[in-house]
Amino acid sequence: MKDMDVNKVARQHAEMDNFFTDGFTIKDSRAEQKQPEADKAAAAEAAKELEKIAEETRQCRKCDLGSLRTNAVPGEGDPKARIVLVGEGPGADEDAQGRPFVGRAGQLLDKIIEACGLKRNDIFICNVLKCRPPDNRDPRSEEIISCLPYLQRQIEIIEPEIIIAMGAHAARTLLNTNKSIGQLRGQFHEYYAGLGRPPIKVMPTYHTAYLLRNYSQDNRRRVWDDMKKVLTELGLPIPEHRKN
Ligand code: URA
Repeated sequence: MKDMDVNKVARQHAEMDNFFTDGFTIKDSRAEQKQPEADKAAAAEAAKELEKIAEETRQCRKCDLGSLRTNAVPGEGDPKARIVLVGEGPGADEDAQGRPFVGRAGQLLDKIIEACGLKRNDIFICNVLKCRPPDNRDPRSEEIISCLPYLQRQIEIIEPEIIIAMGAHAARTLLNTNKSIGQLRGQFHEYYAGLGRPPIKVMPTYHTAYLLRNYSQDNRRRVWDDMKKVLTELGLPIPEHRKN
């Protein structure tokens, strides 16, 4: 870390961790609520369909990333989640494990989810790209075009009420725009899942990897403000200790 005070960075990260987790106990988790039989059957059917897509991604060679990956990272979580969170693409840790958001950015995401009063399993977590771009470079447009149908089908099956688009690549892909994440975040947009389907609300926010790289009270606050809007829209309580 060139010209950087390592202790200061460590302190800032600890501060950010505390902000999202301090003194918080999980309440109102959807997973703990009783599910009616019809919902259970729909969830089981959706899980089966999602697994088919996951298997397709494991066999996929539609772009060059297919021959570079260790594991495809199709996504995971509640097959009928009210929230789908979409990131950019797997990093090294995700490629090694075949699971989304398990590295440092994922650990911060876990804290944010917890601060929202939710559990990781309450939501569905996936990415625009299902395979890791080498050296974590930005996704290329031909890769996004090849991979997008998997994400579109996942969203069709899950039918979430809200999509959280983490970072510029997810937001731009879902909203078909070139605007910056700074312009897009903080307000709801609409994703059209197809004819005859109601639009799904999209909340773009900063990527947790960006938060880790660009620590500031303001950026941290902006992400939390975006999450509060999501919770309010879903009629979920904002945890007491984190109202502001
Ligand atoms: N960053 C992403 O966008 N997705 C992951 O799964 C991990 C890091």
